[in-house]
Amino acid sequence: MDWFGRFHPLLVHLPVGILVLACLAGLVLPKEKINTYLGVFRIVYFSGLFFSILAVLSGLNLAGQGTYDEVNLSQHKWSGISIMALCLLLIWQSRLSGSKTLFRLINGLTLMILTLTGHLGGSMTHGPDYLSVQKDEPEGREKNPVNDSTLILEELVFPVLQARCLRCHQDSARNGGLDLRSVESFLSSNPGDPVIEAGDAVKSELFKRVALPAHHPNFMPPNGLGLSYSEIRLLEWWINLGAPSNKRIADLPESAETDAFLKNQFGLRSSSIDPLAGIRVDPASPAALETLDKLGFAVRPVSSGLHLLDVVPKKSNEALNAEQWNALLALKDQVAWLNLAGTHLNDQSLSYVGQMTNLRKLRLERNQIGDQGIKNLESLVHLEYLNLYGNGISDACINSLAALKKLKELYLGETAITDKGIQTLKEKNPGMEVIGDIELW
Ligand code: HEC
Repeated sequence: MDWFGRFHPLLVHLPVGILVLACLAGLVLPKEKINTYLGVFRIVYFSGLFFSILAVLSGLNLAGQGTYDEVNLSQHKWSGISIMALCLLLIWQSRLSGSKTLFRLINGLTLMILTLTGHLGGSMTHGPDYLSVQKDEPEGREKNPVNDSTLILEELVFPVLQARCLRCHQDSARNGGLDLRSVESFLSSNPGDPVIEAGDAVKSELFKRVALPAHHPNFMPPNGLGLSYSEIRLLEWWINLGAPSNKRIADLPESAETDAFLKNQFGLRSSSIDPLAGIRVDPASPAALETLDKLGFAVRPVSSGLHLLDVVPKKSNEALNAEQWNALLALKDQVAWLNLAGTHLNDQSLSYVGQMTNLRKLRLERNQIGDQGIKNLESLVHLEYLNLYGNGISDACINSLAALKKLKELYLGETAITDKGIQTLKEKNPGMEVIGDIELW
């Protein structure tokens, strides 16, 4: 019979529609009109009664299956049932002609109870705040994939608890004192008898409650589906880490166990991680983007959701002017890929590039850069790709290049760098692939 309960959200709209219309008419029509049409009113109230019986029955069926806040549920149930009683009163009233004062009163009352019942039902299914305007999530937070800067408690553990447990745990007085309205209220729940034993999941009330067999009387949530296996593992992992409140994934010491967990749960710390996923920057301001566009740069997002930018001048072979450099620097946090191939760059212009410290990929081929200019790039500690093909650099800049510890691909064709220089570079930085005299682009 479970299917019947699932029709409740559908069925409730029938009596609501019918009764709202009839009750409004009963409230506003003049007495003579009502007395003329009492027969019509009666038929309408009868159908209201019939459908509210269906709504109540399906609702009771649904209540038996779901996990709803008991208090809300009982209020919703009784106000729903009282609508049936009000329909009976209305049917009785529609048999009497004469004064319509009581008739109007019952109509008004029915309208009020209908509104209340609907609101309680909405609160139960959509949460108590469903009428208020949602607070804006901090931009980009919600949808970001899990990455190194993800806050373990705030962004991984707590959302699970809020999604599955908040319904019944939203004030500190009720339900065992567990208050899940905010991270702070959660952590300070039950100071005398905390639900978390930091470092020991098995001793923690919170973990025990969700890990028990589902039929156990202490199992949480008390009705409905329990947490998923990976949600339970997440809680266990966090508590065993010492239940840290302000740590990011990047703060965790590397250990085989942690790494295996991160890899299994989130695909992190494995070779498949997108290196860009570790960077979080604010979105570029629309004004700054527009300026960049106007000044002749093509700007694209590097990957969705990360706010990082891939920037290239629309016209190559032209040197950048001061205005263009300023526009680039205004977005120095966001620019992760930059292509300045063939833009007449010299040593001086590289001091601008050196300020764009979030750069991962930088193309500087076919410019007039010398060894002195390369020094400016030492600040680009995240750089993974660098193309210096066709510049006037020599072995004198090897130390600067070796300082780029993250560099994986380096193109040095058509430069004065010798094989010996490349050899030194490879020794200093074994992870780096140095590509000499071939032009790939
Ligand atoms: C349908 C309502 C409901 C839901 C949903 C629910 N709880 Fe509870 N919870 C209760 C009630 C009622 C109590 C108090 C009675 C008891 O201790 O069993 C309680 C008590 C607890 C306690 C004991 C607090 C203490 O200090 O004794 C913990 C821990 C707990 N819940 C955790 C959870 C977690 C975790 C979830 C989500 C997976 C959850 N609850 C979901 C109703 C609920």
